[in-house]
Amino acid sequence: MSFKVQPAAPARPNRCQLFGPGSRPALFEKMAVSKADVINLDLEDSVAPDDKPEARRNIIEAIGDIDWGNKTLSVRINGLDTPYWYRDVVDLLEQAGERIDMIMIPKVGNAGDLYAVDALVSAIEAAKGRNKPIAFEVIIETAAGLAHVEEIAKASSRLQAMSLGAADYAASMGMQTTGIGGTQENYFMRAPDGASHWGDPWHMATVAIVAACRTHGVLPVDGPFGDFSDDEGFRAQARRSATLGMVGKWAIHPKQITLANEVFTPSEDQIREAREILAAMDEAQRTGQGAAVYKGRLVDLASIRQAEVIVKQAEMIS
Ligand code: COA
Ligand code: MG
Repeated sequence: MSFKVQPAAPARPNRCQLFGPGSRPALFEKMAVSKADVINLDLEDSVAPDDKPEARRNIIEAIGDIDWGNKTLSVRINGLDTPYWYRDVVDLLEQAGERIDMIMIPKVGNAGDLYAVDALVSAIEAAKGRNKPIAFEVIIETAAGLAHVEEIAKASSRLQAMSLGAADYAASMGMQTTGIGGTQENYFMRAPDGASHWGDPWHMATVAIVAACRTHGVLPVDGPFGDFSDDEGFRAQARRSATLGMVGKWAIHPKQITLANEVFTPSEDQIREAREILAAMDEAQRTGQGAAVYKGRLVDLASIRQAEVIVKQAEMIS
């Protein structure tokens, strides 16, 4: 155990991040009234190269014109390996109003990527006298991003969230799949009786991101699930990432919002059980015990910390 106290991640709900292309402004009003906690207006891969300037204008206008309620409002800029990203940042921060909360930086490869964007953002904020500092979120979706995930997690005090981008990650790693998240047909163990036991090819990246995020007080988020006709596949993927410590998941179609909110909102039963565990430990400590029995299971001081995770999540959402 390090003597350092693990920093808390930003205390805001991040169960679902809804994406929409900046080139489809007709979707913006619908996004604003959706049940997603975070809105990501996209300038990157859902926008064709010729449409980038118009998408920027659409987004800048919508940031000021649309009532985004209490949602966290984020814009995904283009990657640092493109000719578009600096113009994305400059136009957004020079022209958009203060309602924008975050910039999402895709395909980050190392801490220097955040430093570069931070330098540009800091200069524009100072020049324009912007009052609200822009936060960052990043996508880990390249081999380099995963290799340098911890230095990225601590690279900027602006950083609030980090997502796993399954499709680009698979491409960068040279994985033999075109699926965006979820179960992969060729990833299984064969049991002696011939049965296939599915493995989770995203497991290592997920855990690496959660560990880096938890060490540095950043929110870990599961990225897209491409097959939006497969509700059960989405649920299974989301439950795995929730079990591993992620706080939410992207929606690339509105029908995925309810699914993400359902998985990442602690259920009544989970909350009741967490509160009962806290009560059982309270009682144990009053009688000088460090451990107790709850429903036939051991609970101890670590159980308090586990139960508090669930109670805190529930309190933040309500
Ligand atoms: N946000 C809000 N509403 C959306 C939406 C979105 N991202 N995508 C679709 N809708 C709306 C449609 O306008 C339609 O509304 P209506 O019932 O009022 O007509 C309804 O939801 C059903 O849409 P549907 O016809 O099934 O989808 P589509 O063919 O219009 O669009 C996609 C499908 C996948 C192209 C679209 O959802 C999309 O662009 N998603 C985001 C992609 C993205 O941003 N990717 C980058 C991150 S990976
Ligand atoms: Mg990507």
